[in-house]
Amino acid sequence: MTIFALEQGWVLETKSAAYSFGLNKAGLLAHTYWGKKLPYPEDYPQPIDSEGWASFNGAAHLTPEEYPAYAGTSYIDPCLKATFADGVRDVVLRFESAEIREGNTPELAVHLADAYYPFKVTLHYRVHAAHDLIERWATVSNHGDTPITLERVWSAQWHLPSGDDYHLTHVTGRWLDEMHLRREPLGHGIKILESRRLTTSHHHNPWFALDHGQTNEDTGEVWFGILAWSGNWKLSAEVTDFQSTRVSLGLNDWDFAWTLNPGETLTTPPSCAGYTQDGFGGASRLLHDYIRDTILPHGKTLHKVLYNSWEATLFDVDEHSQTELAEIAAKMGVELFVMDDGWFHGRNDDTSGLGDWWPDAVKFPHGLSPLIERVNALGMDFGLWVEPEMVNANSDLYRAHSDWVIHFPTRARIEARNQMILNFARLDVQDYIIDHIDRLLVAHPITFIKWDMNRNVSEPGWQDSGTDDARQLWVRYVEGLYRVWGTLRERHPQVIWQSCSGGGGRADLGILRYADQIWVSDNTEATARLAIQEGFSQLFPANTMEAWVTDANAEALSLAFRFHVSMCGSLGIGGHLLKWREEERSEAAYWIALYKEIRPIIQLGDQYRLRSPQNHAFSAVQYMSKDRGEGVLF
Ligand code: GLA
Repeated sequence: MTIFALEQGWVLETKSAAYSFGLNKAGLLAHTYWGKKLPYPEDYPQPIDSEGWASFNGAAHLTPEEYPAYAGTSYIDPCLKATFADGVRDVVLRFESAEIREGNTPELAVHLADAYYPFKVTLHYRVHAAHDLIERWATVSNHGDTPITLERVWSAQWHLPSGDDYHLTHVTGRWLDEMHLRREPLGHGIKILESRRLTTSHHHNPWFALDHGQTNEDTGEVWFGILAWSGNWKLSAEVTDFQSTRVSLGLNDWDFAWTLNPGETLTTPPSCAGYTQDGFGGASRLLHDYIRDTILPHGKTLHKVLYNSWEATLFDVDEHSQTELAEIAAKMGVELFVMDDGWFHGRNDDTSGLGDWWPDAVKFPHGLSPLIERVNALGMDFGLWVEPEMVNANSDLYRAHSDWVIHFPTRARIEARNQMILNFARLDVQDYIIDHIDRLLVAHPITFIKWDMNRNVSEPGWQDSGTDDARQLWVRYVEGLYRVWGTLRERHPQVIWQSCSGGGGRADLGILRYADQIWVSDNTEATARLAIQEGFSQLFPANTMEAWVTDANAEALSLAFRFHVSMCGSLGIGGHLLKWREEERSEAAYWIALYKEIRPIIQLGDQYRLRSPQNHAFSAVQYMSKDRGEGVLF
């Protein structure tokens, strides 16, 4: 049994870890344990009953509540903050009932209700026993007849064993330089990581790992977690003055408000967390397996070696230039040819065309079919770049629907890369995009789509939203994105999708339910890539990490080295093949053939980071097949 009820609470057990909580005498749902699995149910601690500490720290402040709401004398960062119609801003949650649902991934639902108002909260738990992970999310519902304003609804608060000596590991970065691994002591107070950019962002990622400072790659305790969401998110890591450490994850409450009308329910995105004694490497491998086994749409499908034309031809694509590249790529053993930006109506540079998703009549007078047929005849699949959420002012779409972009009517519309963001919270926008991308996929044998998003939000307005609060945009946009992507996936299950946002601006477990791969960074310089890939690999498995061999710094870096770095993930080529010498092309053919032989071990095996590029002149990564029969060492 992986979930069992105790007299006063519940224990959730995975392969080697356990998590428990229960009701204390005061009726508070208190966290009790998160760590290695214990032999008997009685071994798990009982919920504490605090008496508080002086007049300044009430009992609730000293109780590690499983899902604290802002109420009473608790001053910790709560998961829930709401205002009732009469102005009361205090949510007092009481336990109502709980049920366990057995199955492959057993679930526990714990129902709480406000002591006075018809407002209910359900905490959902799902146990991924084989992956040593607990998944959590919450639903909040209004059962009354007046609206309730939600100011914060987080997914989870993860409590660490008592102590204030933890170290926090997370990733930070920026465009061209994503995912740098950071490790620092977590001091008293609150450390916030977040995105206010409408996407997950290049800057931080909703992932954490905590340890006691002595853990390394191979051994030591790690408590780690993630949030599966592709929009504004917040991570709050708090250490109280009472040696209590907890990490909360959820929708960002910055510029957030959500009117929950009578009869409505809001469901948070899920957060997953795990515990291991096998160091940071062990934590990564649990996440890798979880992502491959349960999240990715194409699961463990091996990814083809692709060629992408972007760095070679930029916007200057046409049938001739692409065919020339495709012919060389095919000879080198490439299996998938992807035409990047520049192919659609009016797109000659980044000032025009976005929104008009049909082939440019000048560059492709006979449409895309002749090129695709040629690529297919060369034995390769064909893929295409799109940026569905964007529009240029100079486009037919914008001329017809200038009201479709995110904007405030009294403010100038800031353009970034000359583009504006279509409001994917709107159903008409979603349907328009579904229709246009669908047409492309119906008309052509396309097996790969790179879905890009090349700017962050500004003037986050949503006129005529039809809701009580236009700030719902932050959430509705992402739900709209998921709907568009999900609908297209369903209609075209053969397509492998890649999530790109100017590189790794949208890399998260929410988007990986739709996209099989992530374009990790626009920085393809192989030495820079080592650190980016090290950070990326903390969370994501190698099959999701697309990595191209390009001409960046080719004067200084051997082709072999550039290949080795890219072979650590899902191999792609992005160099200007017309400029590659014959010897380089045949060397590339050698590496591609070798990669095809070893890719099951890399893409689907266990990854071991042996030496970090952060503190060694040489970095080393190893991959082992699941049966330990084969390995690859870079
Ligand atoms: C973004 C992507 C690049 C390329 C360009 C095309 O920057 O990250 O790989 O597709 O857009 O405009």
